[in-house]
Amino acid sequence: MKRFENQVVVITGGASGIGEATARAIVQQGGSVVIADLQQDRGTALVEELGAAAVFQRTDVTVESDIEAAVAAAGQSFGGITGMVNNAGIVGAVGSIMDTSAQAFDRTMAILSRAVFLGVKHAARAMKAKGGAIVSMSSTAGIVGGQGPHVYTMAKHAVVGLTRSAASELSQYGIRVNAVAPGGTLTPMIHALADGDPEVAKAFITEGSPLGFACMPEDIANAILYLLSAESRYVTGHTLTVDAGLTTAGSAPPPFFSQDAQIILHAGQRSKDI
Ligand SMILES: NC(=O)c1ccc[n+]([C@@H]2O[C@H](COP(=O)([O-])OP(=O)(O)OC[C@H]3O[C@@H](n4cnc5c(N)ncnc54)[C@H](O)[C@@H]3O)[C@@H](O)[C@H]2O)c1
Repeated sequence: MKRFENQVVVITGGASGIGEATARAIVQQGGSVVIADLQQDRGTALVEELGAAAVFQRTDVTVESDIEAAVAAAGQSFGGITGMVNNAGIVGAVGSIMDTSAQAFDRTMAILSRAVFLGVKHAARAMKAKGGAIVSMSSTAGIVGGQGPHVYTMAKHAVVGLTRSAASELSQYGIRVNAVAPGGTLTPMIHALADGDPEVAKAFITEGSPLGFACMPEDIANAILYLLSAESRYVTGHTLTVDAGLTTAGSAPPPFFSQDAQIILHAGQRSKDI
């Protein structure tokens, strides 16, 4: 039996980047997907490639009835929903907080934060009778400051909070709620930041990686699939950071820590004997 057999997963933002890699992996492993995205052309092309195990549902995640319809599409096309990935995203408002308009704030939060709330809400309603797994996309910008623009950072922190809060309510129904917090990952979102130049984007991501290579969408899809699958059946309320150790400050340790093993007792006193 394949790992995702009998699993039906709705993926917002499933037409590109991390969502697309997740859709491909689920179908390859025997599951079915609803690709819920604004990008009709990319979404329908992906569905044609993936075959009968995939459907496209045009969805604007800022519209509650669209999210509800995407969840319903899982029932209509495949007989029910077992997984929800709240993944749709944009970079959103950038620049100094002193210059960021309330409108840019509202638009960014609507996609990165409010839509995750709505995705959890409607997936939970549909999963209440049989249980399921929900995975939402946070970011290293949801773990520490300085990894993204202000509003993006605020929205991604909110995803971590909602993940904990919703998990505590929904475990009684057998619904697990987790999040993934990627570091920089080579997707069209990052290409856009590099003015559409994939080589510049790759260099930018590679330079920022403590492990010295670029994170690919498939690396994040692997984490999402773990949290959707029965392998994580005892994991809920958790945000899984996938960032090569970046947010642990896991680049090079200060040279002092690499000296010969010894115990430092207090200023001026060191010993190898204790
Ligand atoms: N790429 C990274 O470095 C990175 C790092 C951390 C977190 N993330 C998060 O991962 C998620 C996926 O990003 P990605 O890098 O794959 O980006 P991407 O641009 O490749 O894909 C995002 C998808 O979301 C869709 N989308 C945007 N607004 C939408 C809306 N209103 N309604 C429906 N769909 C909408 C887009 O059409 C696109 O298909 C995002 O939430 C992003 O914030 C990405």
